Amino acid sequence: MQNLNIVILAAGLGKRMYSTLPKVLHLVAGKPLLSHVLGTAHALSPQKVCVVYGHGNETVPKTIANNELIWVKQEPQLGTGHALMQCLPHLDEKGITLVLYGDVPLIRVETLQMLITTASAENLALLTVELNEPSGYGRIMREIGTGKISAIVEEKDASTAQRQIHETNTGIMVAPNACLHDWLPKLENKNAQKEYYLTDIVAMAATAGVKIEAAHPSHTWEVLGVNSKVQLATLERIHQNEYANKLLEQGVTLADPSRIDVRGQLDCGKDVEIDINCIFEGLVEIGDGVRIGANSILKNVKVEADTIIFPFSLIENADIGKSCRIGPLARIRPGTKLASKVHVGNFVEVKNSSIATGSKANHLTYIGDTTIGKNVNVGAGTITCNYDGANKFQTIIEDNVFIGSDTQLIAPVKIAKGSTIGAGSTITRDTPPEELTLSRAKQMSVAGWKRPVKKTRGKE
Ligand code: UD1
Ligand code: CA
Repeated sequence: MQNLNIVILAAGLGKRMYSTLPKVLHLVAGKPLLSHVLGTAHALSPQKVCVVYGHGNETVPKTIANNELIWVKQEPQLGTGHALMQCLPHLDEKGITLVLYGDVPLIRVETLQMLITTASAENLALLTVELNEPSGYGRIMREIGTGKISAIVEEKDASTAQRQIHETNTGIMVAPNACLHDWLPKLENKNAQKEYYLTDIVAMAATAGVKIEAAHPSHTWEVLGVNSKVQLATLERIHQNEYANKLLEQGVTLADPSRIDVRGQLDCGKDVEIDINCIFEGLVEIGDGVRIGANSILKNVKVEADTIIFPFSLIENADIGKSCRIGPLARIRPGTKLASKVHVGNFVEVKNSSIATGSKANHLTYIGDTTIGKNVNVGAGTITCNYDGANKFQTIIEDNVFIGSDTQLIAPVKIAKGSTIGAGSTITRDTPPEELTLSRAKQMSVAGWKRPVKKTRGKE
């Protein structure tokens, strides 16, 4: 393998986004545009990655915060050739440089590998694409007869005849470093935009007798850039559609592939079924036979085999064991670990707690900072009072406990093995094992008590 340097051009301000956020930090699938490109670049195992960023975009290196990158500031921004020129001191003497755009996030690794294979230490390789609507793009000039590439002409500098050409420059190219060191300092800005065009190196290559090869992406969407929120939304949908197709091809059942959003990575086992409008964020791992109900949101979650998540459940940073039943309308918050066959029902919130095999909290309950043993039944309306307004405290509920409905457990407190708690209790002290504990005002009746009657006004 030859020495590979990668330069990512990302100095553009992105005026048409109408945002204070630099363009390359806008998100596709929950990740900045630039991070998509960096991920793809990384997959090519380059020796170096330079990112060109612009004035006013200091938030870009701060947000991406990656020490392995070489950040190169371009100020002022005098064109793509000028941008690459700023990186020259960092480019190796030998080897090749791949130029990518920070606002073209969906380019595939396979396409770039093909482009790199097309290039060599001696020749230039351009990624070009035939477009039905080529306006705005640089056009690829080819010699009549031989079909050899001779130049790229920018739309603004092109003649009417040249504008009829549909083969366009994606901007992505691979050039030998030796050539870049030679050519870039010779670029001029005598053109319609008074810019130093990187594309002018193509004519230089042709003149110098350097071979110019073209490769093409498998899909046009790979080379689409983002200049506006409309284009951002378009790329988001393309990405989601591709991800959904990938899941279908792996055997996942999607009720509707156009109604799933994966903002990260979703790994599914066999026979997984996902109903409509589910969102997956971060890393989500789903075991065999899991079913996920409509409108559920899972973020950094592992769900083991045969569990059912019923609709409208929100689960974050949690591990869900085998054969559990979650929801509908469950909220599982960070730090939660559920063993197998655990039931967490409607309007139940669980935070930073572990629940052992076979235990159930089916209705209207808050479980926070709690360790629950096996085969525990938590009645409806149970609250672990874990917070005194300043500090958080632990609740421990041992195996085979039964907690009656509408109980408050004032932490720190331990409910010993086999305890039964009477409904409506406020438990402030540890309970003895295998006993009934309750705290309840005695029931009484007031003899002869009369219900108040509404006073009637005089009739009009
Ligand atoms: C460029 C190409 C054009 C191609 C098109 C594909 C040139 C001269 N033209 O045109 O042939 O069809 O891309 O989209 O290269 N950038 C910098 N610094 C600068 C200028 C640009 O970093 O001084 C970055 C931008 O942030 C962007 C990329 O380079 O990521 C392309 O810049 P842009 O202005 O969009 O180039 P185009 O004029 O569209
Ligand atoms: Ca552009």
